[in-house]
Amino acid sequence: MEEQLKEILRMEGISKRFGNFYANKNINLSIAEGEVHTLLGENGAGKSTLMNILIGLYQPTDGKIFLKGKEVHIESPDHAARLGIGMVHQHFMLVKAMTVFENIILGEKHSKGIFINREARRREIIELSERYGLDIELDKLITDLAVGAQQRVEILKALYHGAELLVLDEPSAALTDTEVEGLFAIMRKLTSEGKSIIFISHKMREVLHISDRITILRLGEVVTTVNRGDVDGQQLADLMIGRELKPSHYEKKEVPYDPVVELKSVDFNKDNKHNGLNGVSLAVNKGEIVGIAGVDGNGQTQLAQVIAGVITPDQGSVAMNGKQIQIFDPNAFINDGVAHIPEDRNLQGLVGDMTVADNLVLKETENPRFSSGIFLKQGVINQYAKDMIQKYDIRCQGYDQDVRSLSGGNQQKVILAREIESEPDLLIAVHPTRGLDIGAADFVHEQMIKARADNVGILLISADFDEVIEMSDRILVIFEGQIMGEFSGKNPPIEEISLAMTGNKKGGQA
Ligand SMILES: Nc1ncnc2c1ncn2[C@@H]1O[C@H](COP(=O)(O)OP(=O)(O)OP(=O)(O)O)[C@@H](O)[C@H]1O
Ligand SMILES: [Mg+2]
Repeated sequence: MEEQLKEILRMEGISKRFGNFYANKNINLSIAEGEVHTLLGENGAGKSTLMNILIGLYQPTDGKIFLKGKEVHIESPDHAARLGIGMVHQHFMLVKAMTVFENIILGEKHSKGIFINREARRREIIELSERYGLDIELDKLITDLAVGAQQRVEILKALYHGAELLVLDEPSAALTDTEVEGLFAIMRKLTSEGKSIIFISHKMREVLHISDRITILRLGEVVTTVNRGDVDGQQLADLMIGRELKPSHYEKKEVPYDPVVELKSVDFNKDNKHNGLNGVSLAVNKGEIVGIAGVDGNGQTQLAQVIAGVITPDQGSVAMNGKQIQIFDPNAFINDGVAHIPEDRNLQGLVGDMTVADNLVLKETENPRFSSGIFLKQGVINQYAKDMIQKYDIRCQGYDQDVRSLSGGNQQKVILAREIESEPDLLIAVHPTRGLDIGAADFVHEQMIKARADNVGILLISADFDEVIEMSDRILVIFEGQIMGEFSGKNPPIEEISLAMTGNKKGGQA
C-alpha cells in the first residue's frame, strides 16, 4: 500500500449497548480505499456488532460514521447498499426457496417502472460474475448450492447492488482450502479496482496472508490497528487475547480394541459421491480420538448422521457398545450415551429463542435432577447454568439471555457444555471449532482431551486438516463416501494423507 492512505470510511467513537452491556465501546475505525482491513478478536469481542451497525441493522448508542468525509446516518441495509456498502453475513441471508437470480435482484436498485427487464439484469449479472471470476449458475435454487457457491452469490449480490466497501464476516469459516484460494483471488481483484474490504476471520494464517491492515478488538474495544508487515501471528494472538498462549501438543494414545461404536460395510445413498457412504467400516474405541480427514462434502455429514441415529443406513451394521442397532432414532442414541456436536448449530444444536439455561438442559428435561414429574426445577437449572457459564467460559449477560443473541463462538460453547456434561460414551464432534477464536478453540480441544481421559470415544470430523492432525490418535481418510486409508496419529504421514483426501490410495495409484 502507498504511504498516503485515502480514507473512505471512518467510524468514530462508536458504542453499542444491549441492556447494560456494551458490545462496542468507543470504537474508532478507519478504512482506506483499496485495502483489505481485517477485524481480529476473540468470540464475542464485538466484530459482528460493529459491522451490523455499519450496515444499518443496528443503530449505534453513540458515535458517528463518515463516508468519504461526509457524515451519514445509516438507517437500514438497503440504505447502506445505496451508499455502496455491502455485507456477507456470518450466517447467510439468502432466500433458500428462490433461485440465485431472484436472490440477486431482490431489493432491486433499478426501481424505474414496474416491469423488471429480466434479460438485461441477467446480462449484467453474468458480466459481473465473469469479471470477478464468480462461478455461479443463475437458475439454481439456493437450497441446491454448496456453502462456497452460496457465498459467491452473496458477494455477487453485494457487487450488483453497487458495493464499493464489502464486509465479509467469517467468509472462510465453512470453505474448503481450494474455495478459500478462490475467495482470496476475488478479494484481490476487488481491491485492485479500488474497492475496500473489511474481513473477519479467526484463521491466523489467512489473516496474515490477505490483510493490509488489522484492527484488533478485545471486549468491545479497539486494542490497536497495525500494518500487516509490522506483526507476526504470535504478536497478533497476544494482542487479541491479552494473555500468553502455550502451544498445545497432545499426547497420542494407542488403545486396545474395545469399540463404543463399530460400523461394518455401511452404505447410505452409496451412488451419491458427495452425500453418501459406500461400504464404510470403522470403529471408535473407548478412550481414543478418531479423526476423519477429508475435503468437505465427501460423506462426512452422512457418517455423523448415521452414528447419531439421524439417518438409517441402506446396508451394513452399526453396533453401539457391542449391541447391534435395529432402529435408528436420535433419542434412543442419546439414551445409549451418544453426544453430538452437530455441523449446523442453528439447525440441530440450539433453540435460538430459548435461554442459555434451557438450552443447556435441552436433552435432560426428564432427568430427576432438573425436573420432578412435569415440573422443571428452574432454580436448579439456573444454578447449573451459572456453573456451566463459568466452567466453559460462555460469554453472555446471564443464563436467561436468548441463545440467539450470543456470538457464534459462544453458542458453540453452549453446545459443547451440554454434550460433554451428559457424560457420553461416544462424542461425535463435527467441526467443533469452526468459527472459534484461537483461545476458544484451544479450550474445546482441551475439553476433548479431558473427555478422552474419562474413557469417552471421540469421533472427530473436521474440514480443518491441522485440527485432525493435532487431535487424532488415529486418522481415517474419507473420499466420495469411502474410507481411503487408516493412519496412526503418531507422526502421521501428512503427504500420504493429503493424497488420500484427493482420492489416491496408498502407493500413489489413482
Ligand atoms: N442483540 C443482542 N442482544 C444482546 N447481546 C448481544 C446482541 N448481539 C450481540 N450481543 C452480545 O455482544 C457481544 C459481541 O457479540 P458479536 O456477535 O459482535 O461478537 P463477535 O466478535 O462477532 O464474535 P464471534 O467471533 O463469536 O462471531 C456478545 O457478548 C454478544 O452476546
Ligand atoms: Mg461474529
